[in-house]
Amino acid sequence: MTDKRNILVTSALPYANGPIHLGHLVEYIQTDIWARFQRLRGNTCYYVCADDAHGTPIMLRARQDGITPEQLIATTKKEHETDFADFLIGFDNYYSTHSDENRDFASSIYLKLRDEGHIHTRTIKQAYDPEAEMFLPDRFIKGSCPKCGAEDQYGDNCEVCGATYDPTELNNPVSAVSGATPVKKDSEQYFFKLSDFSGMLQQWLKQGHVQTEVANKLDEWFEEGLKDWDISRNAPYWGFEIPDAPGKYFYVWMDAPMGYMASFKNLCDKQGINFDDYWAADSKNELYHFIGKDIARFHTLFWPAVLDGAGYRKPSAVFCHGFLTVNGQKMSKSRGTFIKARTYLDNLNPEYLRYYYTAKLSSGVDDIDLNLEDFMQRVNSDLVGKVVNIASRCAGFITKKFDGQLSAQLPETGLYNEMVAAGDKIAEHFENLEYNKAVREIMAQADKANVYIDENKPWVLIKEADRKAEVQAICTQGLNMFCLLMTWLKPILPVTAEKSEAFLNTELSWTGISQPLLSHSINKFKPLLTRIEKEQIETMTHSSVSEASIATATKHKIKPAQQAVAENSEAVSGTTNAAIEPIATEISFDDFAKIDLRIARIVKAEHVAGADKLLQLTLDIGNDTKNVFAGIKSAYQPEDLEGKLTVMVANLAPRKMRFGLSEGMVLAAGPGGSDLFILNPDTGATAGMKVK
Ligand code: MSP
Ligand code: ZN
Repeated sequence: MTDKRNILVTSALPYANGPIHLGHLVEYIQTDIWARFQRLRGNTCYYVCADDAHGTPIMLRARQDGITPEQLIATTKKEHETDFADFLIGFDNYYSTHSDENRDFASSIYLKLRDEGHIHTRTIKQAYDPEAEMFLPDRFIKGSCPKCGAEDQYGDNCEVCGATYDPTELNNPVSAVSGATPVKKDSEQYFFKLSDFSGMLQQWLKQGHVQTEVANKLDEWFEEGLKDWDISRNAPYWGFEIPDAPGKYFYVWMDAPMGYMASFKNLCDKQGINFDDYWAADSKNELYHFIGKDIARFHTLFWPAVLDGAGYRKPSAVFCHGFLTVNGQKMSKSRGTFIKARTYLDNLNPEYLRYYYTAKLSSGVDDIDLNLEDFMQRVNSDLVGKVVNIASRCAGFITKKFDGQLSAQLPETGLYNEMVAAGDKIAEHFENLEYNKAVREIMAQADKANVYIDENKPWVLIKEADRKAEVQAICTQGLNMFCLLMTWLKPILPVTAEKSEAFLNTELSWTGISQPLLSHSINKFKPLLTRIEKEQIETMTHSSVSEASIATATKHKIKPAQQAVAENSEAVSGTTNAAIEPIATEISFDDFAKIDLRIARIVKAEHVAGADKLLQLTLDIGNDTKNVFAGIKSAYQPEDLEGKLTVMVANLAPRKMRFGLSEGMVLAAGPGGSDLFILNPDTGATAGMKVK
């Protein structure tokens, strides 16, 4: 084996204003598998990440929710951390860009760049919202598309015809913050002179630090000429103030990548790792950033230039992946394919998705498709049908007939060694991020193992008294092959690997792989993975549709208050990703007619232990009583609600929540926070009345 390597890897920092969804997970799963693989090979590999906690969308989201940005980012960080942990993403550190370490990096790096002459100021005209008294980022200006005329489009691109343009080109522009017509206003901004680094970047890009497709794309930008980069934003802004410019803040994309350093610095301080070993200009250690293709420019132009200008090392490589589509299309809220990490976890085992993504991922930037039907079949046939099956076919005989003892020799050493040798190829595929090839090879080996067992039929031989020893040997062979498969799958399926280790009574290590387990005692086999049932997938998509409709209603100021969690799902800015289609805002009359809206009297309202946003309501709808969990705690004390009337959706399918069964949804109107209104009892309405 070659010398032990010292590696630091990162995934892009998710924005702190929305939930983790299956699109994000492509990246965290890809990175996590690579980090686990490196460790399994005996290398040191740290994996750090953080929430990207700054910027206008976060400021406005907090304002809308009636909380401080600090509160918003603290809650979101907790949610993100739980989602990641449950998807078995093994960060060594998960931090926040709103941290002391990051503030220090932002100011020291900026001052260095300034002192080296890479920063200059210029007065530019920008869109300004006279009512909200703030400058507007492109995403916060809406209007009609200059190309196709579609209404209600964002300032940077049209979701109908796909055109990209400047917000000044929009027809009838309005501010998405206040609705006012934006005006042009002068303001002084701070620019980073990217062109100072043009030669260095062109050189660096030639050295294979980025994928060819990415390098080609960058060539286009070089041809246009590198423009100065505006790194400042005017107050009000949520971020770090620029040290020598009061009232000016660092643009979120300036301090976000520094969050990689800040998270690692925080880890170094906790564990006594030498930070400079990884970040000094002459560092020999490896540094890799995993990112999505939408943010390549920030990581392959601005970031290396900033690092270089400030006297740090540049990344060894930036690995760029494509976007997730579901069933061949952009993730869609109305089709139920905008699936949050949590919704998935409520229904399915995280290892299934880890496996499926691995089977699909290559080292390229092509989009990857999660086809839910194929997902189910693939997991069931590969993992349950092929891999786990080998163990379950062999384990029983060893436990029941041979007291858990494996035989002293393999009947087919040649076959075993052939399989061991395939491990080198598999390792190479993992190393090169050709995960789909690694999986194909692993499954080809699993097929071999199954053929071996099929041909040797231990279940037939066991009936012949004088051939018992053969059965033991065949099953020993089978279990050793299973052991190899699970070792290769360990980065992908950490929990199943751990269970297999308990069962095989050994540690699965890539380096110890050539030695089979012989005259070794194993433990009782317990089922490792179960099949995916169609209903699990259906429930998941149904839940996704209803979560999305709650979010849409929120946007339109009618607030179905069943479920507090949905309130976080609609980012004001659409920053979460480019491949998400907005939910269809129109429904047919027939759809509407299906909704049974009733006046309900709140007969009882109680706090729910452990819930931050929910109240439990007992509702009288005349002929029936319903139990509903409503996310209206921010607006009401339970005692103020008792006796009041509300409108409820009475025919909503009951939904199992963490706290119990919710049998409907109550509607309340208002902007949110403490301004949420339920009907007054003196409107002449009575419980049970149908709402027309
Ligand atoms: N905050 C920035 C990254 C700053 S890194 C210094 C950001 N955040 S994000 O939440 O929008 O996205 C985080 C990562 O997830 C990005 O790499 C992005 O490309 C990736 N993905 C987000 N949606 C995705 C899909 N639908 N499919 C695949 N990856 C996606 O960008
Ligand atoms: Zn258009």
